[in-house]
Amino acid sequence: MKKFLITGGAGFIGSHVVRRFVNTYPDYNIVNLDKLTYAGNLANLKDLEDKPNYRFVKGDIVDQQFIDELFETEQFDAVIHLAAESHVDRSITNPIEFVLTNVVGTVNLLNSARKFWKGRYEECRFYHVSTDEVYGTLGEDGLFTEETPYDPHSPYSASKASSDHFVRAYHDTYGLNTVISNCSNNYGSYHFPEKLIPLAINNIKNSKAVPVYGKGENVRDWLWVEDHARAIDVVFHKARAGDTYNIGGHNEWKNIDLIRLLCRIMDRKLGRAEGTSEKLITFVTDRAGHDLRYAIDSTKLQRELGWSPSLQFEEGLEKTVDWYLANEEWLNNVTSGKYQEYYSQQYKL
Ligand code: NAD
Ligand code: DAU
Repeated sequence: MKKFLITGGAGFIGSHVVRRFVNTYPDYNIVNLDKLTYAGNLANLKDLEDKPNYRFVKGDIVDQQFIDELFETEQFDAVIHLAAESHVDRSITNPIEFVLTNVVGTVNLLNSARKFWKGRYEECRFYHVSTDEVYGTLGEDGLFTEETPYDPHSPYSASKASSDHFVRAYHDTYGLNTVISNCSNNYGSYHFPEKLIPLAINNIKNSKAVPVYGKGENVRDWLWVEDHARAIDVVFHKARAGDTYNIGGHNEWKNIDLIRLLCRIMDRKLGRAEGTSEKLITFVTDRAGHDLRYAIDSTKLQRELGWSPSLQFEEGLEKTVDWYLANEEWLNNVTSGKYQEYYSQQYKL
């Protein structure tokens, strides 16, 4: 029986990773450690509550003593680390939270792993889930490969880059069995509506302005979240110690084109006349330091480990819209109270 610690499992991607591992590997025991910040939500994991190989623990990765005690009592063999402050805009207004959770929290986990796995580094694995934003921005051409030099621009991406460097340092210096993957933008169910796609779905549904930064010319490479969870599964089980894989959808969209597509889908699903939702598009002040374009070359992952994305974007987006329309209670719960405060401060719309 393998004992897993998955951090950040109550968040967007984490909940999909926990679900995949709990359901696919009944002989793995999974502990989901999450602080339940504004982004963490146990409703994302309701279907797993009664699974015998799953347990939730509330806690903060910034607390080294707590992490040490958890390693001591649970005797983990593996860590999949997703817990993070993840929203670029929030990192611009409050960078220190990103340093604490993303940098200090990651180093705390590495310290516990180093201490409690002594003598069995080869059989225990530390998997760090990271982002393509560490590579900075692309111009009109080119793709991020695993060899692209790090060049982060936002406090969020700087904190993720720093955590990646620490993970590699613990492999190179202490021989810890680490793996890193850097993924492009995810979309799908349970995505918190501070991020572009779920925010736009929620606003279109409520006939509210859809804020597009700058001229909407920035490009992102979108991947269905369940394809990311499957990639993490493959990389966890097959990668060599110390290795890195890029994960991406080969699916680049300018923000404005994506939002227009979403408007068309929503008009159809909501029975509105074509063109109704497009009128909600509102160009607002650009994000500071806004990276122009991200696009991932995931050839290494496809060639070496046989992974490729399973869904076409249009199909994935339809599924995502269907999920949000069918899960109105989830959406209403996460967009009440504090979210409204955040929204009015961020957008002043
Ligand atoms: P998210 O914000 O939805 O979830 C983060 C989770 O971490 C939440 O459940 C939160 O409660 C928890 N958390 C935050 N601080 C914590 C702390 N101090 N201790 C314990 N738990 C804490 O994030 P996400 O979008 O699911 O991203 C997950 C990971 O994947 C992050 O590391 C992110 O950098 C990375 N990533 C995200 C994307 C994307 O498109 N969303 C793409 C590539 C990589
Ligand atoms: O590339 C991976 C990264 O993708 C992850 O590491 C991050 O955790 C995740 O949040 C995401 O970062 P982005 O900044 O790319 O995602 P976001 O959804 O915030 O923005 C997507 C694009 O849309 C970006 O160009 C900014 C723009 N945008 C965003 C919001 C929230 C708007 O135009 N309007 C908005 O209201």
